[in-house]
Amino acid sequence: MALMMKSSAGLKAVSAGRSRRAVVVRAGKYDEELIKTAHTVASKGRGILAMDESNATCGKRLDSIGVENTEENRRAYRELLCSTPGLGQYISGAILFEETLYQSTKSGKKFVDAMREENIVPGIKVDKGLVPLANTNGESWCMGLDGLDKRCSEYYKAGARFAKWRSVVSIPHGPSLIALRDCAYGLARYAAIAQNSGLVPIVEPEVLLDGEHDIDRCLEVQEAIWAETFKYMADNKVMFEGILLKPAMVTPGADCKNRAPPAKVAEYTLKMLRRRVPPAVPGIMFLSGGQSELESTLNLNAMNQAPNPWHVSFSYARALQNTVLKTWAGKPENVAAAQAALLKRAKANSDAQQGKYDPSAEDKAAAEGMYQKGYVY
Ligand code: 13P
Repeated sequence: MALMMKSSAGLKAVSAGRSRRAVVVRAGKYDEELIKTAHTVASKGRGILAMDESNATCGKRLDSIGVENTEENRRAYRELLCSTPGLGQYISGAILFEETLYQSTKSGKKFVDAMREENIVPGIKVDKGLVPLANTNGESWCMGLDGLDKRCSEYYKAGARFAKWRSVVSIPHGPSLIALRDCAYGLARYAAIAQNSGLVPIVEPEVLLDGEHDIDRCLEVQEAIWAETFKYMADNKVMFEGILLKPAMVTPGADCKNRAPPAKVAEYTLKMLRRRVPPAVPGIMFLSGGQSELESTLNLNAMNQAPNPWHVSFSYARALQNTVLKTWAGKPENVAAAQAALLKRAKANSDAQQGKYDPSAEDKAAAEGMYQKGYVY
């Protein structure tokens, strides 16, 4: 009976009872770097700025402030974000859309270099978006595995050091077993490929906020999707020390009458994580998912009232950018005020990451909900 074992000379067969299974101990060429990158991103008092909206989604944002969706306007907005002085104190990584990875500031400095100067690790969205999943009740699957290894290697050369792949799980539309499996398997295959190209994969099965379900139902679905995701990641030999997670918080559905205060969201979310996530994983970087700026910060703060086995932090897009965008309104004379608004939100979430956020200095606008039914990212 041959069992494959890894030795310095590679794989060799050893006799081991009756098992015919090949056991391969994985040792990838980027392992050390992946662990280092993951720990830099998951560093105390810091989190991720998600600014990887596709051109279509960025267009919707710009439209909301009356700005035309041109390449130059997207560049100008992203320059405002990336070049905010002092941002690196609170932001450890920023997720970019492919277009932004290759863009530069007006003065000709590559965005990735501007970020590096602030000790912000550049990341890149690598999935190709969601399409309908056949024979389901309106569920979707995430494209992007074809050619992913080549794209990841190119992104690494361009300076990216981590990646994001967002799949979604809909509670009111299912979730069906095939949708859960497909979501988990896609994430696992992506994570393995990204690690082999030197990119730390952010693993994001977003359980959408849509629905009338209560918080217990959300817990049940989150437990199901994370169980599947970790099973397939293990099968695909993903190194857990070199990944980051991007879960949604465990909350009632947006249309559920019974709302949950931050302490309850924290209790349920941490219960789910403790049941499903090994302590080898360095960081949990939550998405905001349509929560208001205030709510997402309060919930994060509640989760950090006692030590956790992982760095528990944020990877927000809407909850970091909402006020910034409105303050900017596309006018060069508003750039400094918009950057101040970004620093304010980033600092609030940095405080929340350390469990010491004080909401008394927040204004009313921060409490404005951003949930949109059927929101497409
Ligand atoms: P939100 O924080 O706006 O949910 O976006 C985070 C994100 O990057 C979703 O993939």
